[in-house]
Amino acid sequence: MKLFEPFSFGDKLTIQNHIVLPPMVTRLATTEGEVTAELIDRYLLYAKGGCGLSVMEAIAVEKQKSGQLLRLNDDSYVAGLRELNQRVHAETGTKMAPQLIHFLKIARSGYRQKVEDLDLEYVQRIPAMFAEAAYRSREAEFDAIELHFAHAYTMSSFLSRHNKRRDEYGGSVKRRLRLAEEVVVESRRAVGDDCVLGARMNGDEFTLGGNTLVDARVIALRLAELGLDYISVSAGGKFEDALQIEGEALDPYTGYSGHRTMPPKWMPEQVNIYLAADLKRTLRAAGYQTPVIGAGRIPTAKVAEEVLQSGDVDLVGIARPILCDPYWPVKHQTGRAGDVQKCTYCNHCREAEGAYEDVTCIQWKAKDGTMKVPTL
Ligand SMILES: Cc1cc2nc3c(=O)[nH]c(=O)nc-3n(C[C@H](O)[C@H](O)[C@H](O)COP(=O)(O)O)c2cc1C
Repeated sequence: MKLFEPFSFGDKLTIQNHIVLPPMVTRLATTEGEVTAELIDRYLLYAKGGCGLSVMEAIAVEKQKSGQLLRLNDDSYVAGLRELNQRVHAETGTKMAPQLIHFLKIARSGYRQKVEDLDLEYVQRIPAMFAEAAYRSREAEFDAIELHFAHAYTMSSFLSRHNKRRDEYGGSVKRRLRLAEEVVVESRRAVGDDCVLGARMNGDEFTLGGNTLVDARVIALRLAELGLDYISVSAGGKFEDALQIEGEALDPYTGYSGHRTMPPKWMPEQVNIYLAADLKRTLRAAGYQTPVIGAGRIPTAKVAEEVLQSGDVDLVGIARPILCDPYWPVKHQTGRAGDVQKCTYCNHCREAEGAYEDVTCIQWKAKDGTMKVPTL
C-alpha cells in the first residue's frame, strides 16, 4: 500500500510512511507551558504506533496563558522539548514537528480580542516571535516545523475575510496575506533552507462571510511561492459562529465551523478532503509541487489508501483514530486491522481539551475507572 511507503519532502526529510499525526492538544503540559513526563510518554506512545510525521500540539510563540499549553517563547523551554525529541528519535522511526501558534485574548466576561484591536507596532513584532520559536524548535531537535495559520487564531484571523483592519494588514486578500508572508520569510531565515517548514491553513472557514476556497487558493499559491515545504489543509474552527455561554470564554469549536474542524460522527467520512484536493490541483496547475496534507474523518487504512490513490492529497492526517488507538498505523500495516480500537468520532477528546482536562479517548476508560490504553 502506498500509505505504508516512505515519503520524502524533496531532499530535506524522509518519513517512514504517508501517515501524518496532525496536532492534538493533550493538556498534559504545565500551565507554565513546560513539558511533563506524561507528555513525553504520550508522544512516545504515538510514535511507537508508527506514524511517519507527528506534528505536536500547538506551542505558543509568546508568553500567553491558555491553560496547559506548551510554549517556546524562551530558551528555557528548549531542554524539555529536546528531551522529548531525543526519546522519540532513540526509540522509534517517527519524525517530529512542533505546531507554532500565536493567539488572541479571550476572557470569561465574553471579551474577545480581534485583529482590529492590535496596534501596528505589536503586529510587526509577531513575525519575530514565530522566527525565534522556529529557531528554538531546531535547537530542540525537531525534524520539521509547522506554522499554525488555521482555525481561530491570530494568523488565520489576519488571513480571513473577517479581518476588517484598515491598514496594510487588512482589506484585500493580498493585504491580509502580508503578516503570513512576513512570518514565513522570517521563520525561513531563522531555520535555514534545509529545514522542512510547513503551514496549516483553512480550505474553508465555514462562516457566513468568511474565507472559502476562493481565498484559500490565493493563500495556498502565495505560501507555495514563498517556498513552504508543505501545506496542511484543515477547516473551520472560528469564533464568529461560536456559542456564547454565560460566564465562559468563547470556544471556537462549539459552532458549525468548529464541528467542521473535528468532524463528528454525523458528518460523512473524508468530509474535508475535497478542500485539500482543490488546493493541491490549484498548486499543481500553477507548477508548484508543494506536498498537501488532508485530514478529517479518515477512519481506516483502506479509506486512507483510497484518498492517496485518488491523488487528492499527498499525505493523510489521522488524528482522533490514532488517539483512540496509537497503534493504528502498525496494526493496519501488519494485517491486524481487526485489532484496532475504533474511533467513534464522539468528540469526548475534544470536549476534554475544551475543558482544560487531560485529553484521552473515552474508550481508554475501563468499567472500573482505570485507564486501559490499547497495546500492540
Ligand atoms: C483534542 C483535539 C485537539 C486538537 N488540537 C489541535 C491543534 O492544536 N492544532 C490543530 O491544528 N488542530 C488541532 N486539532 C484538529 C486535528 O488536528 C484534526 O485536524 C481533526 O481532529 C480532524 O482529524 P481526525 O478526523 O482524523 O480527527 C485537534 C483535535 C482534537 C480532537
